[in-house]
Amino acid sequence: MHLLIPSARLRQVALLAGALGAMALARMPARAATTPNPEADRLAFRAYFKQRFPAVKNGDWGNGPYAVNAGMRQQWEAIMQFPPYDFALGDGEKEFHRRFADGKTYADCFPDKGIGIRQNYPYFDTKTGKVITLGIAINRCRVANGEKPLNYQKGLMASIEAYMAHTSRGKPFDIKIPNDPRALAAYEDGRKFFYSRRGQLNFSCASCHVQAAGQRLRGDILAPALGILAAFPIYRSDWGSMGTIQRRFTSCNVQVRSVPFKPQDKTYRDLEYFLSYMSNGVPITGPGARP
Ligand code: HEC
Repeated sequence: MHLLIPSARLRQVALLAGALGAMALARMPARAATTPNPEADRLAFRAYFKQRFPAVKNGDWGNGPYAVNAGMRQQWEAIMQFPPYDFALGDGEKEFHRRFADGKTYADCFPDKGIGIRQNYPYFDTKTGKVITLGIAINRCRVANGEKPLNYQKGLMASIEAYMAHTSRGKPFDIKIPNDPRALAAYEDGRKFFYSRRGQLNFSCASCHVQAAGQRLRGDILAPALGILAAFPIYRSDWGSMGTIQRRFTSCNVQVRSVPFKPQDKTYRDLEYFLSYMSNGVPITGPGARP
């Protein structure tokens, strides 16, 4: 049952995460559990990464591992000469402008006809009391116009999102938390999930993407959590295809041998809300490519 034994490298990352985590906690301002303050959280989060990686420019946080590793950056620049997401981008653009049977298009479902709006997702819907991700909004639009919903992790969904991200490149994340206790609760739910340890390896998202950010894990360099969603959807060589944020959440959950939730589960939507809010001010770079 070798699967149950963490690799030596994972154990090393765990140790490092433990040590750095203690340092980080010492630096992060203390906060009473009863008074969530997202903006104070965001400023502390940002300051932490700026201090860890002083050379990274604001526009580069959305480039994940490439922002913090020169070797990976060279590989990436080579890949970007013929970006492997180009096919998906083309498909997404075509689909986005296709007319549904009722004569409408996706543009009819979105503010600003869906162009240049990626940075505003996910948003908190005060009518339903839920976090609405771009994927949910796309499927709602389809269903409202007599189309079947799409798989949330890859395929046409990733292509449509690639096109919508592309029209939003350079626009900084601008996630709002409306004055509604349910919105604050959703944010807190996402925040708690991000920092909670789980799975057989007892890792939290933060163990790898905060404390061990910039470290090597197998062939990968761990992306810093600041701006970590700005490049989505991404093409990954080990997937051999495009994947959405939901696909990445699922595979990171599996990495620590914890049972993933269903795509667009409430917890994943709240997690996306929290992480996107933490990245307010970081420009959209999607779609992205990873070797
Ligand atoms: C055992 C370490 C580990 C843990 C724990 C982990 N991840 Fe990851 N994650 C990775 C690796 C490895 C990659 C691929 C390299 C990279 O981009 O960081 C990755 C990539 C990502 C990416 C894509 C980054 C990019 O720019 O391509 C996101 C988003 C992400 N993880 C989110 C999460 C979330 C949310 C959690 C908690 C549910 C989590 N991860 C937990 C190891 C981890």
